[in-house]
This record gives sequence, structure tokens and C-alpha cells, in this order.
Amino acid sequence: MKILAFESTCDETAAAVVEDGRRVLSDVIASQADMHALYGGVVPEIASRKHVETIAALTEKALSDAGCTRADIDAVAVSYAPGLIGAVLVGLSFAKSAALGLGVPLIPVHHIRGHIAANYLAFPGLEPPFLALAMSGGNTLLIDVEGYTEMRILGGTRDDAAGECFDKAARVLGLPYPGGKPIDELARTSAGGVYKLPQAHVDGAPLDLSFSGLKTAVVNLVHHAEQTGEPLDRGALARDFTQAVSDALVPRAMEAARQAGRTVITAAGGVAANSIIRRDLEEACRKAGYQLYLPPLKLCGDNGAMIGAQGYYEYLAGHTAGMELNAYATRDISLN
Ligand code: KG4
Repeated sequence: MKILAFESTCDETAAAVVEDGRRVLSDVIASQADMHALYGGVVPEIASRKHVETIAALTEKALSDAGCTRADIDAVAVSYAPGLIGAVLVGLSFAKSAALGLGVPLIPVHHIRGHIAANYLAFPGLEPPFLALAMSGGNTLLIDVEGYTEMRILGGTRDDAAGECFDKAARVLGLPYPGGKPIDELARTSAGGVYKLPQAHVDGAPLDLSFSGLKTAVVNLVHHAEQTGEPLDRGALARDFTQAVSDALVPRAMEAARQAGRTVITAAGGVAANSIIRRDLEEACRKAGYQLYLPPLKLCGDNGAMIGAQGYYEYLAGHTAGMELNAYATRDISLN
């Protein structure tokens, strides 16, 4: 079964053709990051307008790269939530038109389910159940993936997502948007151990996270140094900050797996590309005897192939949508 899949929830327009949920026939991405970098973050209206400009040409490229004609497409999958609402609406409206025009089913895919499904593309033998640590620009969740379409949230951030925290810390350190990769590179230049940063704990919810205090602490530290003229070790701060994020995420992922009775852990989302978090997850899983699946870097960020992968399993579960399907800025992952 060949699925034409679309992703447009933030600042990447993406289209892909995926066969039977596991084989990527094409995967094309048009990133707008350079445009948003001018403003230090994503400007929602610009994101929507760039999606409108790009999505049709991208679709033609996805089809031709896959060696497909329109007649070869069996279904259309689309990321319909969560995300910047204007951006999501562009992809959703285009996908609806495509499904209508081709006369094939329309499959709604929760964006974070898609991030998790990126692992199915990289690891042919991977099957649920497993524990997923999903970390992106807008979401940070610990999910018990009971089946391909059955998900249970065990914990998550109460405020900022891990990626948002990376982007804001990077900005105050004078690094370009999106800040995750540059801060990762800067962090690797130092052994850290210089700055003491806060760790948040949510009373009565040990698997929940909070990153807003950490973000503010980094901003205050940098502003204080600027105002007093005290020297700032940027490399050490990047390193200590990244370690603080990892120390919040990794032990909770291990505890969530233990509570859910899972011995397989997967990581997902843009922040899963972080070298220190990857190293800490590897170390923790090795110690616990758990099996760890880390998506290759190119499948961590937003892409269309992951939506095609999850779309296949949603289709098998009977999750197709009518033309009245709407987009959602927020949506519980357990609802698809
Ligand atoms: O999953 P993603 O591409 O988009 C969303 O669905 O949000 O995640 C984007 C986020 C950004 O905040 C970006 O800074 C972060 O992932 N990111 C990283 C790294 N690469 C990208 N964060 C930490 N370390 C990285 N190496």
C-alpha cells in the first residue's frame, strides 16, 4: 500500500511516499528555518504562507522521486494535530484536496505519533509495545506505546517543551535559530561542571517535567554576566544546560519504562538528535539491560515519511477521516 503523506505543523513543509508503513519511496522537505532565523523564532503567519507556496511543488517532487504516478497512490495521510494552527491547516486542506481528487482514503495522523513511527522506518524489526520518549520543539512526553495506535501518556512537561528550552537558551547565548544543534555543538567544546542549574520536580507527579525554570535560570545568568561584566563561559553553560535537560529526561524515561513494564525504549523528535541525551540514554539503558532505539539524525526532525509510516498503521486500525476533518493546535496523543 502506497501512502502519500504530508507534514506542515511547524516550519518544515514535507511530503513523502511510504510503502506499507516501513519503506520510504521518497521523502522531500522544504525547511523555512533560514527565514524564521531572521526573527529568532518561528513566525506563525510566515510559516503558513511558506507552506502555501511550497506544498504543491513538493508533492510533485515526492511523486517523481518515488517513481509514482498519481494513480499509484492508495491513500493520503496528513499531520492534523498538534502544531501551529495556520500551518497545520495548510497541509490538512491540501491533503483533503489530494484525497478527494485521487478518490482515496484520508488518514489523520497525530504529529507525535508520527515522530514515534520514524523508528519503524529505521528499525524494521521494531514493534510495540515499548516506552517512547518524545522530545520536540512543542512537546515533551513519556508515552507507553501499547500498540501501533494505542498510546498512554505516563508523563510530560507542564510548561515548555525541551526543544523550546534549547531554542531560548541558544538565543540568549547568541546562537542562531533553531538553537538545538548549535547548542549541542557548543556544549561538546566543554566538560561543564561550572554552572549549577535548577532541576524541577512536580509534587505528586514524579514523571512530569518542567523546563520553564531552567530556561529562566539560563536567561538570568547570561543577563547578569552582561550587566555586571563578569566573564561567561558559554561552552560550559551550554554543556551544563544540556546536562540539566538530559538529567530531567533520562531518569524519568527509565522510571516510566519500569512502571509500564517495558524493556524497550525509543526516542523521538528533534531533541532526540542531541548527542548528550543520546549518550545518557545509551548508558542508562545499558545499565538497566533495556533495548534502546535511537532514530538516525535525519529522522529525528519533522518529515513526511514518519507521517506515512504511522498513517499505514492508522489505516490498518480503521482510522480514516471524512472531509469534515479539522486541524487542532493541541490534541491528546491517546486520541490519535
Ligand atoms: O521535532 P522537531 O523537528 O519539530 C517539532 O515537531 O517541534 O523539533 C525541533 C526542535 C527544535 O527546538 C530544535 O532546536 C531541536 O528540536 N533540536 C535539538 C537538536 N536538533 C534539533 N535539540 C537539541 N539538540 C539537538 N542536536
